[in-house]
This record gives sequence, C-alpha cells and structure tokens, in this order.
Amino acid sequence: MITIHNLHKTIGEQKILNGVQLSIKQNECVGLLGPNGAGKTTLLKCLMGILSYESGDVLFDAQPIETRKQQIGYLSQYTDFKAWMTCRESLRFFGRLSGIKKDRLEIRIQETLKEVGLQEKQHFRVEQLSGGMKQRLGIAQAILHNPRFLILDEPVASLDPIGRNEIQKLIVRLKQRMSILLSTHILHDTKYICDRYIIIKDGKIIGDINQDDQKFDTKRLLVTLKESVQLNHLRECLDVICLKELTPHTFLITGAAAFDLKEVINTFSVNKIEVMSVGFYEKGLEEVFTELAADV
Ligand SMILES: Nc1ncnc2c1ncn2[C@@H]1O[C@H](COP(=O)(O)OP(=O)(O)OP(=O)(O)O)[C@@H](O)[C@H]1O
Ligand SMILES: [Mg+2]
Repeated sequence: MITIHNLHKTIGEQKILNGVQLSIKQNECVGLLGPNGAGKTTLLKCLMGILSYESGDVLFDAQPIETRKQQIGYLSQYTDFKAWMTCRESLRFFGRLSGIKKDRLEIRIQETLKEVGLQEKQHFRVEQLSGGMKQRLGIAQAILHNPRFLILDEPVASLDPIGRNEIQKLIVRLKQRMSILLSTHILHDTKYICDRYIIIKDGKIIGDINQDDQKFDTKRLLVTLKESVQLNHLRECLDVICLKELTPHTFLITGAAAFDLKEVINTFSVNKIEVMSVGFYEKGLEEVFTELAADV
C-alpha cells in the first residue's frame, strides 16, 4: 500500500535520510526503530508532506502520496493541543482545519471519543488530562477523518506502564482497519503491536525484522559490520558467551540474556563500530540480513 523508494533528505549540510527504501502492506503495523537522531521523525514528516525531500518516490496505492493526504492520519512526536480547550473543542478545531464537513464532524467526534475511551472526559480541558489521556486525544485527532494509513511518532514514549498499556490496546484495535507506521525507541513496548520492525540509523535502513517471537532467538544476534573488527573488540563491547565469525564481516553473537537491539546499536555507535545490519538470529533470517547488508 505504501512504497518508499530511495528517499533522500538533506538539511543544511547534513544528510538526514540517505536512500530510504521501505514498503508497508494493507493492515500491517510496522515499527520504525532507531536511536535518537536516526531520522525517524524526519522520515515520518516527509511521508506526511510536512517536509519536502530532494529525491525519491513515496507512493500510496501506486500514486504519489501527496494526492492521498485525506487518507493519512498523523500523530506528531509532541502534540500541540491548547491547554484551555476541552477534548471536544480540540477535536472540532482540528477536524475543521482538515476540512471535515460540520455534520459529519460532530458524528465523527462522538465516534472517535468513544473509540479512544475519552467519552466521559469529553468536557475536560486538555490541561486536566493525564499524559496517557492526552496521547489518546492525539490519536483521536489523527483518526478523526478515518484514514487508511496512520503515522504515529513515538506514541508510547514518556508514558508510564499503565498509559503505555492503554495506547497499545488502542493501536491493536486500530490496526484491524488501517495500516500503521509508528516510530519507537522501545522494542519491548511495541512487540505485541508491530508485525515487523524497520531499523533506521543515520538516515539509513539497516534492518528489517519480522516480529514473530516464535521464530527468532533474542539471545542470538546476527550482525554485519562495515569493516571487519577484531573479535576481541566485539567481545569487549557486548555481553557475549559465544561469538562466531560467519564471514569476515558477519558475526553470530550469543549472549547470556536477551539482547536489547537499541542498546546493541548504541553500544556499536559509542565504540565507533559501523553496522550494516543487525537483527535477532533465525533460521532463514540470515539470508534476509545478508541481502539487506548487500543493498546498503
Ligand atoms: N529542522 C532541522 N534543522 C536541522 N537539523 C535537523 C532538523 N530537524 C532534524 N534535524 C536533524 O536531523 C537528524 C534526525 O532528526 P530526527 O528528529 O528525524 O531524529 P529522530 O530519529 O526522530 O530522533 P528522536 O528519537 O530523538 O526523536 C538529527 O541529527 C537532527 O539534528
Ligand atoms: Mg523523533
């Protein structure tokens, strides 16, 4: 449904997105995972048409995405509601901005408040809402026009476990009827939501992981590096109990406990080890990662 081909974006002198390729199927929920500054928000803003890009194609049902804006919903990383408006007023304000007709808008506000579980808080001012409720109001604003493609920038960041749980349940319901691309730092919190993860670092996609706990082993990592690194150097960086060199650049790393992919990427970054691809080991996944690495 969504295809991004060779997307490049530069701000000033800095290359922010460097040939991003990805596709999202109908009713698929894809997690965009990457460290701070990886380019997640920039990529999402390019999809939304908030930012322009120098080159590349972004297609929605094989048509330029700019022609399908009515079918896209967007929750920005930092929601911008007015503290003094009520939930209802906020949705009315954004609904009018996005051009929903008056009668239809009132029906949709009612339906959407119910959908996100804020019906009873509809007359609360934004400043009276908890963080989790504000985030649900943000999602309500994003789905008000009933989009087919929903973009959520860090929907669970900065929430406590209860707030995160509420948002997760809401997203699971929404993905029955729309495709979702969400950015996150936190693999753990989205693992019941996302069907697949795209890993982005320095504006490049360095991994694509099918999110199926049955299939992969979170204690074993398959890593492809740009430069071959001394095995001892890798051992020092990670908590490794076994390290196998598959090719001079590809390593199978077995840890004592499950690896946190974000931490692994950060560790490599801190130790100036350039990673081409990283993911949990799975029979068959090896080929996928080798292919990915060859593309970079
Ligand atoms: N308006 C801007 N002007 C200059 N540089 C920018 C601008 N917006 C983003 N950048 C740079 O682009 C890079 C990617 O930023 P982006 O916000 O897309 O990262 P992110 O992956 O969303 O990070 P985070 O996890 O912190 O939200 C960063 O190096 C950032 O400094
Ligand atoms: Mg961001």
